[in-house]
Amino acid sequence: MSLVESSTAQQSRAHRHMVPHFTKGAAWRSNLLGVIERGEGCYVFDSDGNRYLDGLAGLFCTNLGHGRQDLAAAAAKQMEQLGFYPTWGWATPPAIEAAAMIAEVAPDDLDEVFFVSSGSEAVEAALKFSRNYHVARGDEGRYKVISREWSYHGTTLGSLSVTGVPKFRKPFLPMLWDGTRHVRNTYGDTAAELASARAVEDMIVAEGPETVAAVIAEPVQNGRGGLVPPDGYWPELRRICDRYGVLLVADEVICGFGRFGHWFTSERFDVVPDILTFAKGVTSAYQPLGGIVVRRPLVEEVWESEMGMYMHGSTFGGHPVATAVAVATMTAMRDEGVLANVLGNEAGFRSRLDGLADRHRCVKEVRGLGYFYALELMADRHSGVELSSTEAAGLQGGVLAGFLRRAGLLIRPDDRGATMLTIAPPLIADDTVLDDLTDRLARVLTDTEGWLQGDG
Ligand SMILES: Cc1ncc(COP(=O)(O)O)c(C=O)c1O
Repeated sequence: MSLVESSTAQQSRAHRHMVPHFTKGAAWRSNLLGVIERGEGCYVFDSDGNRYLDGLAGLFCTNLGHGRQDLAAAAAKQMEQLGFYPTWGWATPPAIEAAAMIAEVAPDDLDEVFFVSSGSEAVEAALKFSRNYHVARGDEGRYKVISREWSYHGTTLGSLSVTGVPKFRKPFLPMLWDGTRHVRNTYGDTAAELASARAVEDMIVAEGPETVAAVIAEPVQNGRGGLVPPDGYWPELRRICDRYGVLLVADEVICGFGRFGHWFTSERFDVVPDILTFAKGVTSAYQPLGGIVVRRPLVEEVWESEMGMYMHGSTFGGHPVATAVAVATMTAMRDEGVLANVLGNEAGFRSRLDGLADRHRCVKEVRGLGYFYALELMADRHSGVELSSTEAAGLQGGVLAGFLRRAGLLIRPDDRGATMLTIAPPLIADDTVLDDLTDRLARVLTDTEGWLQGDG
């Protein structure tokens, strides 16, 4: 496969007019810039006709794969019927239907849905609902939020405040709200210890429970690479939050809508949080939509308070076209047995990755569950040698990206706390796709080992 030429008209227009997200200018201007033009199932094609396996489902979101006519038809039909009307004091049939379907699959009394348009906004909505709830109850002192190191909760100023990735926060620190506290995540923790849950409790006590509004965490943490919590972690968070009157927020922006074989991963971990966030997979990414699901008694307390409302809103929250696509996505997930596909393939997916780790000494550890895994890299597992800082910088600074491009594999080289590869294919991936993914990944690992041995 050839690298995309830097001289194409599309590339130079992109260079002139587009500011890319989280991309260094040097990389953007390099000849690695690709223009993705179309998609089919688990594969996408660039403007030169090169075919790539989309092993990251876009960005953990095109869960039903690319090129779906049913989702396109649902959007077109809704646009013809009613292209837009806001949810400020009004409702539309698709927004009602999507909210009812989400409430039906959310655990227990998580029955009330508030829509926004992205994951960051969903986190903002959860943070603001927490504060709003405490204020409505006259508990005005509660405003602090506890989250975890290396967590990613988004980029807007509120969600960035709870995000725990130092390099994303650093330039903006003077603009971030001072009520956030970061505690250790579950990396290296065990069910016997649950030290990571104790860290949450210790922080609440140290800060004064009467000042703490919420704890926010992903069921499986992406930052620091596929951190599956030890058994009992989430029930323990629930116990701690109940004890101190703190709301528990599960950030399910990645975890929701099937990534771990359940509608919501909180269900898999046997916990009912007070608030769930969602985005990404709710529409299989065919439309921007996000939101929060809140336990009904909490919403009722707000309604019945003197304040009487949740003081938040946005023009596009609950957009009829986006919610129509959410309805079509959830319908397809049900009709096509997408959750069963993930659960049925989970063990085989894992054993393919474990097999790769056995065969490649540059893999330190495989972590993950369902259709979400991180491979942490090291120089040589057999002799216990970690990557040097120069090797890590080289791999993260474009070497892995080049090997992935050559293998036609779209997964994510990640530098959040270690050098890792993150893998999260569409949830419709079957054995054939998983085999193809494994073969392509094997090539990347072989290239990486060659480079580490100095033949790169
Ligand atoms: C757990 C989590 N929360 C929030 C966000 C922010 O979502 P968005 O990029 O849609 O703003 C992300 C994005 O990846 C995420 O993974």
